[in-house]
Amino acid sequence: MKYAIITGASRGMGEAIAKRMLEEQIAVVSVSRTENEEIRQLALENGLFYKHYSCNLSLEKEIQEVFMEIAHCIYQKKPNQIYLFNNAGVIEPIETVGNLDQTPIIRNIQVNLIAPILITNIFLNKGSLAGTTVHAINITSGAATRSIEGWSVYCSAKAGLNMFTQTTALELAEMKTNNKIIAFSPGIMDTKMQETIRSSSKGAFKELEKFIDYKEKSKLQKTEVVANALVDLVLNGSAESGKIYHVSDLLN
Ligand SMILES: NC(=O)c1ccc[n+]([C@@H]2O[C@H](COP(=O)([O-])OP(=O)(O)OC[C@H]3O[C@@H](n4cnc5c(N)ncnc54)[C@H](OP(=O)(O)O)[C@@H]3O)[C@@H](O)[C@H]2O)c1
Repeated sequence: MKYAIITGASRGMGEAIAKRMLEEQIAVVSVSRTENEEIRQLALENGLFYKHYSCNLSLEKEIQEVFMEIAHCIYQKKPNQIYLFNNAGVIEPIETVGNLDQTPIIRNIQVNLIAPILITNIFLNKGSLAGTTVHAINITSGAATRSIEGWSVYCSAKAGLNMFTQTTALELAEMKTNNKIIAFSPGIMDTKMQETIRSSSKGAFKELEKFIDYKEKSKLQKTEVVANALVDLVLNGSAESGKIYHVSDLLN
């Protein structure tokens, strides 16, 4: 049996990934602070394994407890393949350096960078003991390689996630297992994260008008389109470990 563990499946891109995985008859474990009832219903209708774990990914103690429990639950089912989608993310704080508050800085780095590192570490460790192939997919951003004024924390966290992906891939290659890790930059999508961006202030975020324009001119991609492109890549087995994919590489 194949399992997909998806953080941030309650809405946005994570929700779209979860729904597509269920359509592919792949069991889903969802992790976020709130649960998406539509995903539960879809799994029920298709007779597929689904479980939601409530977890605040900005708290490392919760991550450790919840993901050890998930690993225990899944590995006793002897899965042949685990897809680990580190998708949950936060854009805030949107503010210039010198005017940042401490708590949102720490929360951003915890959710966007520390959580994916901790979770990937747990699953690669348990996977090697159980003989299960693990494919980790880290959802990154164009902001990892483009400096965006007002997004210094988000840019730094996503840049760190890219480097974590590439370094882990080197280590996995050395171990000669079938495990893989990739990063995927989804482009601009019509989600709550974009609403948060549009509600920021011009003083804090220089590119505000450009992002308002994206919405007004319908330039934001639907999450289903982006998730389908990613899941196609992951399931067809052609993904190259260590590579940072961009949605534009996959959509014609
Ligand atoms: N939207 C874009 O244009 C865009 C562009 C580039 C990259 N991305 C990346 O794509 C990914 C998905 O973003 P999205 O646009 O779908 O965002 P979204 O609609 O805001 O959804 C974010 C998800 O992350 C979860 N999350 C946030 N903080 C959490 C926490 N402390 N603990 C647990 N879960 C938490 C949320 O769940 P709960 O609130 O239920 O906990 C939610 O399911 C992110 O990694 C983002 O950085 C998005």
